[in-house]
Amino acid sequence: MQNPAEKQRLIELDVSQPVWDRFFWLAPLVLIGTRETDGSHDLAPKHMAIPMGWENYYGFVCTPRHHTYSNIKRDGVFTVSYPRPSQLVLTSLAASPRVSGDEKPALGALPVFPASSVDGVLVEGCYLYLECELDRIIDDFGVNSLIVGRIVAARVAQDAERVDDLEDQDLIHDSPLLAYLHPGRFAAIDQSLSFPFPAGMKK
Ligand SMILES: Cc1cc2nc3c(=O)[nH]c(=O)nc-3n(C[C@H](O)[C@H](O)[C@H](O)COP(=O)(O)O)c2cc1C
Repeated sequence: MQNPAEKQRLIELDVSQPVWDRFFWLAPLVLIGTRETDGSHDLAPKHMAIPMGWENYYGFVCTPRHHTYSNIKRDGVFTVSYPRPSQLVLTSLAASPRVSGDEKPALGALPVFPASSVDGVLVEGCYLYLECELDRIIDDFGVNSLIVGRIVAARVAQDAERVDDLEDQDLIHDSPLLAYLHPGRFAAIDQSLSFPFPAGMKK
């Protein structure tokens, strides 16, 4: 009988190297906001970013090499802005390299407004905003760290809030979601279907 791995034509990946660029995988794309030491703001895109469970914790993967990491370690707070597909280019610009004096001039292209509960900024025009106080940093996943915050304030744009008199598929159609397809592609999601949960499923 044919081995199932051969039947499915599975390719063995070399796990002595990171495997994540060998296929596409789906992620969100958010902008993490922090304060720099001189009081100016920093914004950086992150795709390895998700709720940490069912309660109000939020985490993302960073590295101590980034200002985002040291700013959060020092100040104990960060913000999260969820951009819309129309804000893709601005979102990407936030990853521009720093120039002399450690500045990131591209940030000037992103309009911001102050957060309500933590010292930080949010990016105008996004559909979801979270303000977080640092809960913990877990270091040493190789060169990476997991930064986890407790959400102390959250706001959603009116056109992105789920409400009883609007079908979920219409909401997503009218206010599309931005997906990052690692490595290096993106999608605007404006079509969706109800998930076929099994009968009797419990969380
Ligand atoms: C699409 C995209 C996704 C990214 N995702 C992450 C991520 O999940 N974690 C991370 O540490 N860096 C990620 N980066 C890289 C950093 O955000 C980027 O290097 C940034 O400029 C670091 O800024 P900072 O030094 O101000 O923190 C991503 C960059 C792009 C363009």
